[in-house]
Amino acid sequence: MNRHFIESQLGFITTLIFLERKRRYFSNVKTIRPPDHLRGHVDRIKRDGFVVIPDFVSKQTAARMLACVPDESSFEESVEGDRALFYLNAHTLSGFSEFFNSQLLGDIAKAYIGNDVISLRRSIEWRRTKGQVIACDRMYHMDTWKHRLKAFLYLHDVGMDEAPMIYLKGSHEGAWRLPMEARIDARYKTNDRGYAASPDLAFIGCYWPYEVNEFKTLYGLQDVICTGPAGTLIIFDSRGLHRATELKCPYRKLLINYWIKKGNHT
Ligand SMILES: [Fe+2]
Repeated sequence: MNRHFIESQLGFITTLIFLERKRRYFSNVKTIRPPDHLRGHVDRIKRDGFVVIPDFVSKQTAARMLACVPDESSFEESVEGDRALFYLNAHTLSGFSEFFNSQLLGDIAKAYIGNDVISLRRSIEWRRTKGQVIACDRMYHMDTWKHRLKAFLYLHDVGMDEAPMIYLKGSHEGAWRLPMEARIDARYKTNDRGYAASPDLAFIGCYWPYEVNEFKTLYGLQDVICTGPAGTLIIFDSRGLHRATELKCPYRKLLINYWIKKGNHT
């Protein structure tokens, strides 16, 4: 009997083991009270799974940042099959400090995840492949069962043609998540760079459309299409279900920062 067969037969025990791991993880989470001026944002993320901050930077600042994006040769293609280009460690570049060094964002991440929060990836994402792409991010999925807070800053207007993310409002919590969380815990493996250890594994965490429709019906969950003008900031808990949409224009460029609880990158 191989490992996967045993896991399928002992799903109940696997879930119990996972529940104990989850209990231990959350018993070590020590969130802090957010400053008064951030409480609304933190409460909104706790309630809906995301918050939108319009005009996080001005349109002029967003345009200046867009002009600072390096040329394509310094980007690498995503290893997760979505055809996007990434510039890693973008916080080392001048021109993006208002985002990557933002006290406000750091304080929100600390309030949501705890004092031991760390920024795991700070990057520029450049989407340029139009049309349909077969990739895990095109399906509704949860990234993980542990805390993972992501922030997207739009460097130009993002409308329906600019591949806006869809977030299923309120899907970051609920007992219905448990089977998938246990599956991720048991099956998902990362390589030494923190990405899925194989292209197939990247699909763990994805749901079929009929399953998502059932969740919407049963739990009253609703899609939110995250469009917004240049300078808009989207902060979301990527435990909640989300998916990418099709690019219908030449490109989309945005800044990404995301945070986890230290020592929990897998
Ligand atoms: Fe994701």
